[in-house]
Amino acid sequence: MTAAREDQTTTSTLLTEAPAAPAPTVGAQIGARAEAEAGAALAFPPKFIWGAGTAAYQIEGAAADDGRGPSIWDTFSRTPGRVRNGDTGDRAVDHYHRYEQDVALMAQLGLRAYRFSVAWPRIQPDGRGPVNQRGLDYYRRLVDCLLDHDVEPWITLYHWDLPQALQDLGGWPQREVAERFADFAQLVYGALHDRVHTWATMNEPWCSAFLGYGSGRLAPGVQDPHQALRAAHHLMLGHGRAITAMRAIDPGNHLGITLDFNPAVPASGDPADVDMARQVNGLRNRFFLDAILRGAYPADVLRDLERFTDLAHLRDGDQAVIGMPIDLLGVNYYNRALVAAGPPGTGTGTEAGAPMLEFPGAETAVFVPQEDRPRTARGWPVDPDGLYDLLLWLHREYPPMPLAVTENGAAFDDYADPEGQVHDPDRISFLDGHFRAAQRAIAEGVDLRGYFVWSLLDNYEWEEGYSKRFGLIYVDYPTQQRVLKDSAHWYRQVIARNGLDGQR
Ligand code: FCB
Repeated sequence: MTAAREDQTTTSTLLTEAPAAPAPTVGAQIGARAEAEAGAALAFPPKFIWGAGTAAYQIEGAAADDGRGPSIWDTFSRTPGRVRNGDTGDRAVDHYHRYEQDVALMAQLGLRAYRFSVAWPRIQPDGRGPVNQRGLDYYRRLVDCLLDHDVEPWITLYHWDLPQALQDLGGWPQREVAERFADFAQLVYGALHDRVHTWATMNEPWCSAFLGYGSGRLAPGVQDPHQALRAAHHLMLGHGRAITAMRAIDPGNHLGITLDFNPAVPASGDPADVDMARQVNGLRNRFFLDAILRGAYPADVLRDLERFTDLAHLRDGDQAVIGMPIDLLGVNYYNRALVAAGPPGTGTGTEAGAPMLEFPGAETAVFVPQEDRPRTARGWPVDPDGLYDLLLWLHREYPPMPLAVTENGAAFDDYADPEGQVHDPDRISFLDGHFRAAQRAIAEGVDLRGYFVWSLLDNYEWEEGYSKRFGLIYVDYPTQQRVLKDSAHWYRQVIARNGLDGQR
């Protein structure tokens, strides 16, 4: 282990401030500070990048087309009991065949950018070796179509669909997979760097590591915290190696990564609760962030982990690779956690019913239900002030870095009415509140360049299958018909005005 710097974040608002007072209903869910501003007109900076996002496995379908190999999600989704209703991404929303129609809808919304991911098993069906041209051609066509419609492509190279052949070698807990990822990055970047100017290596490595190999809630469904820690490091190493390889091909683009943040707030001022929040924040939020932006894993987190594992998989020189300079940090935000320390065995999981193997020490971490907050259909508390606090924390505590909210949005139980309309006032309210929180952060100096709503259209929500609808666009799954929800029409106006006009 090379020198890790002392953690400097323990006094930040993330750890000390209780969440803002809850709003009483979903309709009035925009949070205490945002509530005061609701209805006011707000402008965003010129050239603000309004977008929407998706991920390959969640939308493409065409699981066997053009030489695509199997990924860990094909295997996981076919394993009985893993995904609600046994849903798979075999067909998803058939975007692979309908991308032209979907890009036309993006243009209709006025999206300035579209964030999507590349399915590694389309490019290298076995996760290694020469490029599968037919798979790559699909992304060439998609990029051309976006550019023809003046929608800027933002590529995420890895959004959770590891080729199964690499999982058969042990997956992310194996160091070799980091090298394979850099090869994959090089192939895709080499083909598209002249037309795509913003790239993220990965989406949410915490989920890949700790939900994929810790709790086993996501593919590949392994439950072993030691493997989760190895996976976390090798994901980071893969990120760093990919950045190096991509810069060598073309240093002229914006390269970065998307991290997910779930800030932990102590349930009380009790030192045990405060320390539990520090631990959860440490592994959940600061572990990846510090490695990337400060060039070292946080010292307090390494101390916590040394009680549990020897960290022998960390090698000298790794941290320098991981800390390669980046140009942009993608921020995914959905909610905050309220955390208390309990006696061993009382841990409640980060979400209701989730097994507690996500991080060492988790068996004493109690995630306190935030019952007075409204919830989305995913069961997540609505907390826009958490986005504001997160953006300010990143701005104040970390080296200067352009930011983009690469995911924020909500699932609600949407349906088409007899006239074929989809009314989703709760989503409009949710987005309005979070846009206001982002705007306040910008007004205080945060260098926020863009905002990508999750998601462009309803899709395969991982272990929840098709049961949770996050889209701005409704998809009738049997017919694959697309319907713009009210939120999509509202978002079109937000983009056209580059802000909020005082209407909700
Ligand atoms: C994020 C994932 C994304 C989507 C949203 C709801 O963690 O990156 O694919 O499932 O959650």
